[in-house]
Amino acid sequence: MNSVRNFLSVYDFTKDEIYDILLRSAVLKAERGGKNVCLEGKKIGLIFEKSSTRTRLSFEVGIVEFGGYPIFMSSRDLQLGRGEPVKDTARVLSRYLDGVIIRTFEQERIETFARYFEKPVINGLTDLYHPAQILTDIFTVYEIKKSSCEAGIAADIIGNLKIVYFGDANNMANSWVSLQAMLGFELVLAMPEGFEIDPAVKEDSKKRGGRFLISNDKISAAKNADVITTDVFISMGQDEEKEKIDKLRPFIIDDDVVKNAKDDVIFLHCLPVHRNEEVTEDVFERFSPVVFEEAENRLHVQKAIMETIF
Ligand code: CP
Ligand code: NVA
Repeated sequence: MNSVRNFLSVYDFTKDEIYDILLRSAVLKAERGGKNVCLEGKKIGLIFEKSSTRTRLSFEVGIVEFGGYPIFMSSRDLQLGRGEPVKDTARVLSRYLDGVIIRTFEQERIETFARYFEKPVINGLTDLYHPAQILTDIFTVYEIKKSSCEAGIAADIIGNLKIVYFGDANNMANSWVSLQAMLGFELVLAMPEGFEIDPAVKEDSKKRGGRFLISNDKISAAKNADVITTDVFISMGQDEEKEKIDKLRPFIIDDDVVKNAKDDVIFLHCLPVHRNEEVTEDVFERFSPVVFEEAENRLHVQKAIMETIF
């Protein structure tokens, strides 16, 4: 229906574009406060059907720093929240706005919106993917690793990493699977028996030659890891299932995991964290400087994404 650029998953960028975004994020971080008004006069909507601290604020601040005008809309206040169809909302907002960032439930919902909205759409998290977060996570790793590596070539640094994700087969696990298919690092998902990656996510990765391993043994999974990461056990929109938490509990990131990883292992968490559920309080606090850098990096990476998309 239209040929504008969207960012609904990492597959909307080429591998080269992803590396360009990582390099550009570093420049934008270094030059923060300088004059860059690439969104001057642009009105960017933020439609959120779920709660958010980091995604909402980092996009809003990024738009303001680029000279644009963010307009936040909670679905509670929109007719969308009372059942107005997504395709009607998209066709109306298309006449007012220059782009939108959406946080919603099914991936299909954001895809429908993008089909009917004639301007760019960015995914601010769905049940399937959290692409802005995953590019931030890999940028955070690249930023740390490049300082200890002479040539600092992003593809060499990232392509040789072993990344291990612990926990639920959710939108963050899926996002690591999609990023692996684009950038080719070693990916292990440590999760309980019976936990499976969504078939559509597996298929999309397979089509691009992606490879990952699911391990039910968290200690062997952690061996020689460069990066260890996790996410909440119960995602937004899911019901608290005690049985699910009980199954996931053994996959907590604790000292045993850290000891089996490389000495200079990097721990990432997209936040918010549930202390002593997916990671021990002690491990989280020890690695928290990087986790809060990761949170700050949402701003820089999303600015680079917006430059590319808008
Ligand atoms: N990591 C992340 O997306 O945080 P928020 O839910 O606060 O936006
Ligand atoms: N998996 C989590 C990520 C929160 C940023 C959720 O969807 O709630």
